[in-house]
Amino acid sequence: MTHLPSPCSTCPGHPARPGPSRRQVVTGATAVAAFGVPTLAACSDDPGTSGRPGVNTVSVAADDVPVGGGVIQEGWVVTQPTEGDFKAFSAECTHQGCAVSEVADGQIICSCHGSYFAIADGAPTAGPATRPLAGAAVEEADGQLTISPQQG
Ligand code: FES
Repeated sequence: MTHLPSPCSTCPGHPARPGPSRRQVVTGATAVAAFGVPTLAACSDDPGTSGRPGVNTVSVAADDVPVGGGVIQEGWVVTQPTEGDFKAFSAECTHQGCAVSEVADGQIICSCHGSYFAIADGAPTAGPATRPLAGAAVEEADGQLTISPQQG
């Protein structure tokens, strides 16, 4: 018996998705651990159901955030586009809610379906995501960055 991939029938222009790989299943479990809620693979860009920011306030050493790159920690992506300029975003991809997987070459990458976001403002630069990552508040004191949900 052959298992055929199921198409993403509600998103115009999306190609058929293959069934979840072992890695995607692990990634989904990671997303649950990171966000504390299951991130269902609903095919939606509904702003009411995706783009949720991380929920906990976290502290990151400024020295751990590379210039021109970033780190992913506890549901947040913390970046430093230029020296001394720190930004933070929700690590939840605005496409279908996977946790973004890495920061490389000035881009925040979601490996679920290949969306890329700019480290400077979280704007989508490639892939199926059309909305920016949700922004977060960043405060710096004594070499520590405090990341928390953005109010309003
Ligand atoms: S969830 Fe589809 S690219 Fe991120």
